[in-house]
Amino acid sequence: MDKIVSLAKRRGFVFQSSEIYGGLNGCWDYGPLGVEMLNNLKQQWWREMTFRSDVEGLDASILMHPRVWEASGHVENFTDPMVDCRQCKARYRVDTLLDELSLKKKKDILRELRPGKFEGQQKDEVIAAEFEKISGDAAKVLPAVSCPNCGNKGTFTEARKFNLMFKTFVGSVEDSSAAVFLRPETAQGIFVNFLNVQAASRQKIPFGIAQIGKAFRNEINTKNFLFRTREFEQMEMQFFVKAGTDDEWFEYWREQRMLWFLNLGMTKEKLRWHQHPKDKLAHYAKDAHDIEYEFPFGWGEIEGVHNRTDYDLSRHQEFSKKGLEYFDEESKSKFVPYVIETSAGASRSFMAFLVNAYHEEEAPTGEGGVETRVVLKIHPKLAPIKAALFPLVNRDGMPEATRAIEADLRPLFRVFYDESGAVGRRYRRQDEIGTPYCVTVDSQTAQDQTVTVRERDSMKQERISSQKLREYFSNKLS
Ligand code: GAP
Repeated sequence: MDKIVSLAKRRGFVFQSSEIYGGLNGCWDYGPLGVEMLNNLKQQWWREMTFRSDVEGLDASILMHPRVWEASGHVENFTDPMVDCRQCKARYRVDTLLDELSLKKKKDILRELRPGKFEGQQKDEVIAAEFEKISGDAAKVLPAVSCPNCGNKGTFTEARKFNLMFKTFVGSVEDSSAAVFLRPETAQGIFVNFLNVQAASRQKIPFGIAQIGKAFRNEINTKNFLFRTREFEQMEMQFFVKAGTDDEWFEYWREQRMLWFLNLGMTKEKLRWHQHPKDKLAHYAKDAHDIEYEFPFGWGEIEGVHNRTDYDLSRHQEFSKKGLEYFDEESKSKFVPYVIETSAGASRSFMAFLVNAYHEEEAPTGEGGVETRVVLKIHPKLAPIKAALFPLVNRDGMPEATRAIEADLRPLFRVFYDESGAVGRRYRRQDEIGTPYCVTVDSQTAQDQTVTVRERDSMKQERISSQKLREYFSNKLS
């Protein structure tokens, strides 16, 4: 992971937010290559969703009426239990604090809390399972846990509920009547606009509304680079269906969403489904399956597919006192639709694609030796730069011929001109940022107007007429 974070910074994918001031925890900035790749990713998702005839787009505002979050259940339920260390003031989420204890520490705690029962040798699974059982009762377990920061034991406060929504104020007065929240998910903007979109687009159920946008959560423990941040982007689609057809649509969207990741080059073995156990479902969900990616630090959710039933629309009806029922022309009946949600993190998926693309492999040097090349095998549709253009040497008209190719391609694709250093080094620089094609103008170009095109992953080269490059790249990148 460290190597990827370091490459991301060095090559301009991701920087720490406000780095010159020491950074702001849980916030990241996308550099020149990062923003290109993130935009490509969002564009692929947007095309996938809204180029369909049954999905419309939306861009709702981040700040919404505060009652939205009461209706959605976020004011009441969007909380994490949290403790502070009285000694060093470090703050922890209780579940993470207990989860991350080593097996040895878990065994020590079990020994202390259940004297006589854990003295001999036990299997790791037994210790983990027993600890899991007792960790539900945080008040009992916490006095036996040492603070990971200062090492003191018995210094934790009682667990308190901590709401993850960021609060701010509209207008000039900072009192409770002016309080609003930064949205913790984009979904609610879709629910409150359900009938607006339906009426404006004349869609009939089943149909969906898709949205990409920022979401904010005051996560207690931000960690693992872009995985858990306080500001992030979501790509969410709510698909409105008739109750009774929801299970079928749930399966349909699960399949579609997995295919999307696979078609953009994700390694199949690094993706899996995780179904939420019934007792751990979010307050709105009837069923929930996560697509998980195997990051270097373990499996982590990148997208959730949820059956949200009619919970959200019914709650908004109740709180706003405005009807959100759909009128079905065929049956001449009114009903509140069920919702199948696909909720992907743009930032988290970006990180998964970056991690999945990172490879170190042996490659031949120009002198006949072998060297390690770092290559990002990013899908060409996601790659920030599509083609790099090199004159083999800086004379004999090669730079001019390369510039002419650049002028021809630049209106269509993001290309990069590079004339500095040996061509082998230029290839390596492009490999490291995932550029799928490198075009080299050499002495033969002046004779027959052909250039070499080198493909990033296979490193194979072919000769192509420079006049055919537009067509060549259009085919490869479409
Ligand atoms: N509307 C449903 C919803 O928001 P979620 O499982 O809380 O569901 C959906 O979030 C996706 O948003 C996750 O799969 C993840 O990719 C992304 N996400 C959630 N919290 C995040 C965070 N703190 N940092 C980065 N991405 C996050």
